[in-house]
Amino acid sequence: MSPQPQAAVGAPLSRVDGRLKVTGKALYAAEHDVDGVVYAVIVDSGIARGRITSIDTRAALAHPGVLRVISHRDAPKLPYRDNAGSNNPPGRRLRVFQDDRVLFHGQPVAVVVATTLQAAQHGASLVEVGYDAERPSTDLREAEADEPTRYARGDAEAGLRSAAVRMDLTYRTARNHHNPMEPHATIARWSGPRLTVWDKTQWVVGTQNELAAVFGIPAQAVRVISPFVGGAFGSGLRCWPHVVVAALAARVMARPVKVVLSRRQMYFGTGFRPSYEYRLRLGSDRRGRLTAMAHEMDAETSSYEKFTETIMPAGQMLYSMPNVSQAYRTVPLDVNTPLWMRGPGFATASFVIESAMDELAHQLGLDPIELRRRNEPAEDESNGLPFSTRRLRECYTVGAREFGWDRRRPEPRSRREGDWLIGMGMAAGLYETQRNTAQARARLNADGTATVEAAASDMGPGTYTSQTQVAADALGLTMGAVTFRLGDSLFPPTPPHGGSMTMASVGSAVLDGCDQVRQQAIKLAVEDRRSPLYGAAAQDVVVRDGRMHVKDDPARGETYRQLLARNNRTHLEALGAFSRPSGAERHSFYAYNATFAEVAVDATLGLVRVRRMLGVYDAGRIISPKLAHSQAIGGIVGGIGTALLEHTVTDHRDGRIVNANLADYLVPVNADVPDIKTIYLDGEDREADPLGVKGLGELVHIGVAPAIANAVFNATGRRIRELPISAEALL
Ligand code: MOS
Repeated sequence: MSPQPQAAVGAPLSRVDGRLKVTGKALYAAEHDVDGVVYAVIVDSGIARGRITSIDTRAALAHPGVLRVISHRDAPKLPYRDNAGSNNPPGRRLRVFQDDRVLFHGQPVAVVVATTLQAAQHGASLVEVGYDAERPSTDLREAEADEPTRYARGDAEAGLRSAAVRMDLTYRTARNHHNPMEPHATIARWSGPRLTVWDKTQWVVGTQNELAAVFGIPAQAVRVISPFVGGAFGSGLRCWPHVVVAALAARVMARPVKVVLSRRQMYFGTGFRPSYEYRLRLGSDRRGRLTAMAHEMDAETSSYEKFTETIMPAGQMLYSMPNVSQAYRTVPLDVNTPLWMRGPGFATASFVIESAMDELAHQLGLDPIELRRRNEPAEDESNGLPFSTRRLRECYTVGAREFGWDRRRPEPRSRREGDWLIGMGMAAGLYETQRNTAQARARLNADGTATVEAAASDMGPGTYTSQTQVAADALGLTMGAVTFRLGDSLFPPTPPHGGSMTMASVGSAVLDGCDQVRQQAIKLAVEDRRSPLYGAAAQDVVVRDGRMHVKDDPARGETYRQLLARNNRTHLEALGAFSRPSGAERHSFYAYNATFAEVAVDATLGLVRVRRMLGVYDAGRIISPKLAHSQAIGGIVGGIGTALLEHTVTDHRDGRIVNANLADYLVPVNADVPDIKTIYLDGEDREADPLGVKGLGELVHIGVAPAIANAVFNATGRRIRELPISAEALL
C-alpha cells in the first residue's frame, strides 16, 4: 500500500471539541437532562472507624421535598458478584450500605433523596447518625505494614559495603488529591432490568462491568455514558461508592437519581496519591559509577484494599548498576482507598531517585547530567531486553543547551538577586509505554463523511482531536469530514483511559479500522468497470480530501461519494482492532524526559518561586504538537503542585482530613506558573505500536518535582527530602 499522505497527524490543530467546551455545550456527567430526575446527597461518616448504632431520619423526612433516606438498615442487599473486567479490584470491595461498619472518615452511611438539590442537601444535614467509634489508625509512620513485595539482583548489601561513596537517605511524600475541576457525578436510571448511568469516568467499560457485578445483572444490561470528562488525573479510573449509591437509590425510588460529590466529598469519595516513606541507600565508586541501590518503600493503603502502584521498575532500570534490592510495603490504614494519580508510582520513584542522584553528584563534585550519563544503561538491566528507543542522552543534550545549563553555578547558594537566591536543577523522568487491546468502528458514509466510534474517554488530553487526526489521514479525509465519538459503552471496547495508553491502543485500532475502510473503497473502485480507477493497482492508490487517485497520476481518480453513489452503497464499515503482540515483550518500552527548573528562593522568608521550566521528551511520534504542549503544561503545573503546595493533611486523632477544600489544599494558580517550554524529540517508536507513539500524559508530570527540589538545593544549599517543600522547611 502506498502510505497515505499525513496532513492532520503532526499538525498543531486546535481541539475539535473546543467550541463545545467554551460555549458550555459539552455536557458533563451532572449536566445531562434526564426526565423525572430526583437529587440525592450522601451523608458521610463522621468517624473513621467503628459501627453505626443509630440513624435518626425523622427531621430529614419532615423537611419539605425530602422523599426518602436510605441506609444499610433498609437498602436492598446487593450481590456484589465477581467483577471480571471491572475497574475495581476483585474481592474486598467497599460494599455500599450493606452493613453497619465504618472503615474510613467520609464513608457513605446514608443518602437523602429529594425533589431538589437544596432539599437533599438540607435533608442530609438533618440526618442524625450515632456511632460506636474506635480509635482510627491513619498514620503511615505508626501503623503496621503488610509483608513486602521484593526485588533483588546481585547483592545490594555487599555492593553498598564495598562502595567508595555511600548515602542513606529517607524521603517523605505527601498525600495528594486529584482535584479535577469537574466534581465526580452520576445520574442513574433504571428501565426495568436495564441500568443507564451518565458518569464521570475514565473507563466506561470498567464501570459497566463493575455495576453489572454489584447488581448481579449482565453487562449488556448496563450502559455507561460519559462523553466529556472535566479532568480526572486518575480519579476516574474506579467505579466509586457514589456511583453505586446513585444506581441503588434509583432502584429504590424507581426514578432517575443524580448524585454530585461536593468538593469536600472528593477528598474521601474518590482516591488519592498515597503518601510514602521511602528510604534509599546508594553506593558508587569515586567516579560516580553506581554500585548498588537499596529501596525500602512504605505506602498508604486502605483496610479493605491492598492498593499498589508501579513504584518498583524505575529503581531497576533507570540507571546501570549490578546490585539492587527493593522492598515495597503497603500500610493498611483506616482511610478510603488510594488510587493512581498522574504518573502513578513513577512520579514518586523519580522524586526519590533523582533527588538522590543530585545529592550524589554534589558529594562527588560532578555535574548532575554528567553523573547520569556515566550510569546510562545499554539495555534494560531488570530483564536484559533492548530498549525500543531510549534517547535520554539526547534529552540531556538538548535540554542543557536550550535551558542554558552552562550558566548554572555548581556551588549552592552562589547566585543571588537582591533577596532572592537563584538555583537551577534537573531530573530525568520515565514512564512505561503501555498498550492494550482496543477496538474502534469506522464508517464511511455515502456523503463522503466518516464516523469513527470507540468506548474511550477524553479527560482532557484531546482524545477527540487526536483520534480524528489519525482517522482523517487514514481515510484521506479532511478533519471536518470526520466525526469521532467516544464515551459510551455501546461503542467498541477500549482499555482504561489511563496509564497514557489511549493514543497507542485506541489510536492503533482507529488506524486499523480506517485503513480497512479506505482499502475497501479502493478495492471497490479498481474492480469497478465504471470507475476511472478500474484496473489500477490498489497499492498505487492514495486518498486525499475524499478523492481516490493513482499516486503518480493525480488526474486519474474519483471521490468516495461518486464511488458509493454509483454502487448504491449507503456506507462502508470496518471494525478496527489493536492488541499487543502475544507472548513476552521483546523490548523494554518506556518514554523518557529530562526536566529542568530554575527557582528563586526568598532568603529570609523561604518562599520558593519557580521561574522557568523546560521539559524535553522522548515520547515517540507526536500526533498533535499543540495538544502535546498543553499536556506538558498541565503535567508541569501538577508537578509544581506536588513539589511545593499539595498536601492532604489528616488529623490522626479522629482520622478526619482537615483541609478537604480548595482554600486549604493548595494547588498552583496562574501566579505560581512560570514560563514553560517543551521540546519533543522528533521520531517514532516502531516497536511499540503502529502509530509509533509512546504515551505522554503521565510522562510530562514525572521528573518535575525532583527538578524543582534540586533547583532549591542549588539555590539555597538546603536539601529538602519531604514534599511539599514548605517555606518553614527552608527557614
Ligand atoms: Mo492516569 S493516573 O493513569 O489517569
